[in-house]
Amino acid sequence: MPWDPTQYLRFGGYRTRPAIDLLARVPLSAPRRVYDLGCGPGNATQLLRERWPEARVTGVDASAEMLDKARASHPDIEWVRDDIAAWRAPEPADLIFSNAALHWLGDHARLFPALAEQLAPGGVLAVQMPDGFHDRWHTLMNAAVYESPYRERLEPLLLVDPVGPPSFYFDLLSARARDVDVWTTRYLHVLEGDDPVKEWTKGSALKPLLDALPPAEGRAFESRYAELVRDAYPRRPEGTTLFPFQRLFIVAIR
Ligand SMILES: C[S@@+](CC[C@H](N)C(=O)[O-])C[C@H]1O[C@@H](n2cnc3c(N)ncnc32)[C@H](O)[C@@H]1O
Repeated sequence: MPWDPTQYLRFGGYRTRPAIDLLARVPLSAPRRVYDLGCGPGNATQLLRERWPEARVTGVDASAEMLDKARASHPDIEWVRDDIAAWRAPEPADLIFSNAALHWLGDHARLFPALAEQLAPGGVLAVQMPDGFHDRWHTLMNAAVYESPYRERLEPLLLVDPVGPPSFYFDLLSARARDVDVWTTRYLHVLEGDDPVKEWTKGSALKPLLDALPPAEGRAFESRYAELVRDAYPRRPEGTTLFPFQRLFIVAIR
């Protein structure tokens, strides 16, 4: 799917915060080989580079737009275009890091063990994924699709339960790792501006739906979704909108 790094980074502070929280739980002092899967515009990859300046850090992503932005912002980091589903670490990994990307891939029962297999002994798999697919920002996106005259075209593009419960990842990884830590955090984002929840999703889950429609129909769908989430996440008298957003974190040590 084509990505829009500018729209995505409108909320870059909030989107990078879980990467900071995840990184704080990675118990490595001097990893040599570090990969950031689904690196996007490189906002989290930069944190990896800053924490371990001596490491060889590689950002991996399938999106040419995201990689162009990453390359322009951080020319000192290595960027590789690849599909995570087929990706194999060129050298055993001391750290495989992934912030807000793996929910875009299916078949986690195959993917997570395959990633763990790429780790060197003592290596770490550190992953964060959004975990709010039963929250209203997403159920209302589903509702807007179901009522749309373009339902048939849009429905296959919805992310349906892409993230499993914490115990699913614990069970998958504990057979391959000596230590597995899984937790969730529910952030309370304080957003500003008009229709901020719609604007947030326009940088991620809403985008493939809009891209699938002709421009006028895309605008109509966007307005309808904006209307639905405006009611669910009302603007407060002082002008801000509270947006609770849950995320799931995994740190597994091989
Ligand atoms: C929401 S962005 C996350 C960007 C960044 N990691 C961050 O911390 O904000 C998700 C990224 O995952 C990438 N992605 C999704 N599916 C992918 C796949 N199968 N292979 C490679 N990259 C993928 C997208 O291109 C996008 O850049």
